[in-house]
Amino acid sequence: MDFGLKNRVALITGAGKGIGRVTALTFAAEGAAVALIDLDGAAAQAVAQEIRAAGGCAVAQQCDITNADSVNSAVDAVIAELGRIDVLVNNAGISRDATLLKMQESDWDLVMDVNMKGTFHCCRAVLPHMKAQKWGRVINLSSRSIFGNPGQTSYSASKLAVVGFTRSLSLEQARNGITVNAVAPGFVETEGIRSHKSYAQLKEVAVSKIPVGFLGDPTDIASTVVFLASEQARYITGTTVFATGGRFSS
Ligand SMILES: NC(=O)c1ccc[n+]([C@@H]2O[C@H](COP(=O)([O-])OP(=O)(O)OC[C@H]3O[C@@H](n4cnc5c(N)ncnc54)[C@H](O)[C@@H]3O)[C@@H](O)[C@H]2O)c1
Repeated sequence: MDFGLKNRVALITGAGKGIGRVTALTFAAEGAAVALIDLDGAAAQAVAQEIRAAGGCAVAQQCDITNADSVNSAVDAVIAELGRIDVLVNNAGISRDATLLKMQESDWDLVMDVNMKGTFHCCRAVLPHMKAQKWGRVINLSSRSIFGNPGQTSYSASKLAVVGFTRSLSLEQARNGITVNAVAPGFVETEGIRSHKSYAQLKEVAVSKIPVGFLGDPTDIASTVVFLASEQARYITGTTVFATGGRFSS
């Protein structure tokens, strides 16, 4: 199926590794030009180089999405290099897990700043460009943990905030040709998770709770994001797609 993404420009935050990296590679494979943004500028550059080596078009910017000036400079640079932004994937996200009574206030603030405020900053910087061209797709990464996970009060709260943000913004932008949706992944096997010291145990516990019986792969999330960015998804807005292998509860 042709998703109509050739000649489109997709900006992906947190594209230096994990789901963001694979999402960037998937957009590039669909013929889109890709702008990769990451706190880790070298990682974003490496993925951009990987895309260019395969014949695609990609640029990379070091950027801290918690900082409005940093986001605005990165978006300005992308517009200067690629001329437009059609798709924004708010993928960059972090967790700082601890039970509530052991949670540091600074960790709470950081999770909210990256997962929630970062999405706010990126939408504010990119939406004027989409509005001017009367076409846009915003896809925000939420998480299955909105249904609850012990040790993740901050993360769950930030990712449920993303769902509410998505619904309200979709209503604001519906008449501008811009759709706004969220994708909520379940347990996705990234390189970060594979290098976790309790990886084998984590995997065993997770698999036992996932109805389909296996962990998600970053490609499962990337393909969902690409579909929501496509022409075919023009009638879908304000929703959250759960890519969780059928798992909803904790
Ligand atoms: N992996 C999973 O199982 C899973 C499950 C549910 C939801 N998610 C969500 O999917 C998204 C991607 O997850 P992942 O596992 O690929 O993450 P990851 O940790 O592998 O990669 C996240 C990327 O975001 C970047 N980043 C962090 N803070 C940033 C900042 N302030 N500014 C710019 N970039 C920043 C990091 O440098 C990194 O490259 C996140 O929003 C995460 O919450 C992941």
